Amino acid sequence: MDRIRIVGGERLEGTISISGAKNAALPLMIASLLTSDTLTLKNVPRLADVTLLARILGNHGVDITVAGKRAGQRNGDGQTVKLTAEEIVDTTAPYEMVARMRASFWVLAPLLARCGEAKVSLPGGCAIGTRPVDLHLAALKALGAQIDLEGGYVIARAPKGLTGNRVPLAKVSVGATHNSLMAAVLARGDTIIENAAREPEVADLALCLVEMGAKIDGIGTSTLLVEGVTSLHGAEHTVLPDRIETGTYAMAAAITGGEVFLDGARADLLQEALQLLRATGVEIVESPSGIKVSRNGGGLSAVSVETQPFPGFPTDLQAQLMALMCMAKGTSQVRETIFENRFMHVQELARLGARIELKGDTALVTGVNDLRGAQVMATDLRASVSLIIAGLAAQGETLIGRVYHLDRGFERIEEKLGQCGAHIERLSG
Ligand code: UD1
Repeated sequence: MDRIRIVGGERLEGTISISGAKNAALPLMIASLLTSDTLTLKNVPRLADVTLLARILGNHGVDITVAGKRAGQRNGDGQTVKLTAEEIVDTTAPYEMVARMRASFWVLAPLLARCGEAKVSLPGGCAIGTRPVDLHLAALKALGAQIDLEGGYVIARAPKGLTGNRVPLAKVSVGATHNSLMAAVLARGDTIIENAAREPEVADLALCLVEMGAKIDGIGTSTLLVEGVTSLHGAEHTVLPDRIETGTYAMAAAITGGEVFLDGARADLLQEALQLLRATGVEIVESPSGIKVSRNGGGLSAVSVETQPFPGFPTDLQAQLMALMCMAKGTSQVRETIFENRFMHVQELARLGARIELKGDTALVTGVNDLRGAQVMATDLRASVSLIIAGLAAQGETLIGRVYHLDRGFERIEEKLGQCGAHIERLSG
């Protein structure tokens, strides 16, 4: 199993290009199931989750081609992926696949909407809480699907097609909003999705669906109005930049007291996080081509935060912010309100010398002057990158095990950080 070795203490300086958003690319790829035409996606990140989803979609009959690098394209440019689901050959998503990536559960709605039936295994994914799918199933039932649970599978049927309806989501859920949207666009009549997630990745999916011929109003708000159409057609869509990757590298620059330009980052996608970083003493300069993050000489101040659905502070940046707070002056309170059990990085950060006390859903982080390198283990996608952030600032060598979690969501992380002066390498085997 690969490990990552970091020798900390170097200031990050340079430019990091921001990849396409994993959390947008996955639902966009899944949307290809809704049409027999070709959906062309540009700026798709090169990630293990994207490769795995391509295999899963391949099982359903989607033809996928990845365009080669063209002249003039830079290494950091994302790939162009063409997906054609001319014929759905299998409406079953088996346990072996869905258990490896929770987002693949979202094939349920488009398969059901297009074929009138789908059998999808209950999901797995990061071990960050129980992560049920009740909201997804309630939404599909509201649109007229018959849902049965059998042997760990969801069996959904709507032989005469889905019918538009009111879909009140009891809790804000990104995945349930994706599923509701993909079901509603091909349903007969109008659907109102209430309490929809407002995450930019949901808006990106909705915009792509509109480019495919769907009729959706209220994009970017918590009420989505969908007028069903009988079929969708092909389209070309560019995946929006990854706000979580952006925030992660911003915190990496901040902890090392460096200066990094995040090329292609969009500040409007993470206002709350940038405000918080400013409050810690980091300088942020927003421009149309990216975001410059610098901390030249000044110390870091502790800030307190609570994770919230968009536009609040994202749960996917909680572990990274906690790593930063490990070296801030004072005590910071980090409250996780989206997922239970999303503090697995705490004990690993403690191995590096962090002072963190857990009280229910809140972590109290008291900054220390120095972190020290140690052997640590990645436990989930975002937790693993918090260990990299802490390792960059720690004295001596940090060895991170189980980095496959990292490869699911961060493209060429050693290369991107290495280019800015970090001593970081991958040890194979
Ligand atoms: C997505 C993101 C993930 C992010 C999360 C919250 C992708 C691939 N993943 O995950 O990175 O951390 O949004 O921003 O885009 N819930 C229920 N019942 C349901 C569905 C969800 O109770 O049927 C709960 C969850 O347990 C959680 C909360 O709702 O407490 C939010 O989860 P949700 O937004 O659905 O997360 P995902 O879509 O799985």
